[in-house]
Amino acid sequence: MKDLAVILAAGRGTRMHSELIKVLHPVLGQPMVAWPIQAARAVGLQPVLVVGHQEDQVRAAFENSDVRFARQPVPRGTGDAVRCALEALPEHGRMVVMAGDAPLFQADTLKQLLEIHGDAKVTVLTAIIDEPAAYGRLIRSPDGTPLRIVEASEASPEELAVQEINTGVYVFDIAWLRSVLPSFVPHPPKNEIYLTDAVERAAQDGAVQAVILADPSEADGVNDRWALTQVCQRLQQRIIKAHALNGVGFEDPSSNTVEVGVQLEAESYIERGAILRGQSKVAAYARVGAYSIVEDSELAQGVYIKAHSHLESTVVGETSVVGPYARLRAGTVLQADVKIGNFVETKKAHFAHGAKASHLSYIGDASVGSEANIGAGTITCNYDGFSKFQTNIGAGAFIGSNTALVAPVDIGEGALVAAGSTITQPIPSDAIGITRAEQRCIEGGAARFRAKRNHGGTGVQSTTKGKA
Ligand code: UD1
Ligand code: CA
Repeated sequence: MKDLAVILAAGRGTRMHSELIKVLHPVLGQPMVAWPIQAARAVGLQPVLVVGHQEDQVRAAFENSDVRFARQPVPRGTGDAVRCALEALPEHGRMVVMAGDAPLFQADTLKQLLEIHGDAKVTVLTAIIDEPAAYGRLIRSPDGTPLRIVEASEASPEELAVQEINTGVYVFDIAWLRSVLPSFVPHPPKNEIYLTDAVERAAQDGAVQAVILADPSEADGVNDRWALTQVCQRLQQRIIKAHALNGVGFEDPSSNTVEVGVQLEAESYIERGAILRGQSKVAAYARVGAYSIVEDSELAQGVYIKAHSHLESTVVGETSVVGPYARLRAGTVLQADVKIGNFVETKKAHFAHGAKASHLSYIGDASVGSEANIGAGTITCNYDGFSKFQTNIGAGAFIGSNTALVAPVDIGEGALVAAGSTITQPIPSDAIGITRAEQRCIEGGAARFRAKRNHGGTGVQSTTKGKA
């Protein structure tokens, strides 16, 4: 039987001032409570989530996963939450208890805690901190034996001066906890059952161990949005540091966002202000330019995403260059050596090897053949107000500047479209398509126009001037 990790997530979290339950607030690409769940999983614990407030949303966030659920219908305190969990758990074994609003605990910490616990009744993880504020305090006897935990709200001034706090992480012998929990008395004024009372109970049999966290900042929980920002920063630093130690370069790590699901290969490089989200992957020698956003996208070796570009669900092939100021929307696939330049927007567009769209274009629902060149200002007119239509551009085709390709339309291989054309019919391979209106030249026309304007010919302004 696997050891269990009961993670408490039934409380609302009023100090967040949010409609959304606290434990679902996003922390670097996943809900807050996913962090303790992952730490638990990493040491082989079976996660059991105690849910109550916004239960449906919390369950939905972890559906089709290994997470099991227990229900606490009314939030009557941490002891009550664990009692509810026990109803769904085996009679015997060990369980870790953690809070869903404390995302910084590391797997290693849990591992050590379990090792020290062995077959004890209760092991509580504590931390020594400068400003213990609202945390529960661990009270020890003069010889250092743990006696009980007192909540800040019930503590005497001497107890409040204690700097060793309860982190809210414990290991329990399940059978023992099951036998003592029903006798815990509610604490006024809210009449909550405190899990922390288990410590005093076990201390009576000399069966409590307290383990002090080496890095007390791991205990920092999230009670309000400011604490959330601090926790995010710390987790972000951890993630980026791990990447850096694996060989990823960062110009200014404090300016980057790198979510937890992002994969970065050694020798990739992240410039200042770049944001990497979701399941993005960046291969070796690829570079993400300053202030670019890469979401759920894959960059192959040697790709350069220049500054201020935005990629969503896009695949970029080897040594392709994108941006600056490019916008690649979902379903964009670039093969190797493609060039997408400034102010180009793509959507569901496939660019084959070596194709180029260097300036100011919209290419949507399109395939572009290898080495084709899309001139500045080309628009695929893919939408008629009702449906979307496809544009296919053959290999080696040349699309002149300021062309409208009215989809559905096919441009053959090696075809040439004259600048300024509006193309509504297919163009065969190696043909020229041109829809430009014929040019007229009016000899001396410009000179006559200027003369008229310069000698009070017309215009509101000259009339006004005359009056003055
Ligand atoms: C608790 C501890 C305190 C400790 C601190 C560490 C108790 C009585 N106090 O205080 O000693 O220093 O954690 O962070 O345990 N929850 C439920 N159901 C409930 C009540 C709470 O699921 O009925 C969940 C909350 O969603 C939260 C966690 O339990 O994730 C902790 O509850 P919270 O009210 O934040 O406890 P603290 O006051 O922080
Ligand atoms: Ca808390």
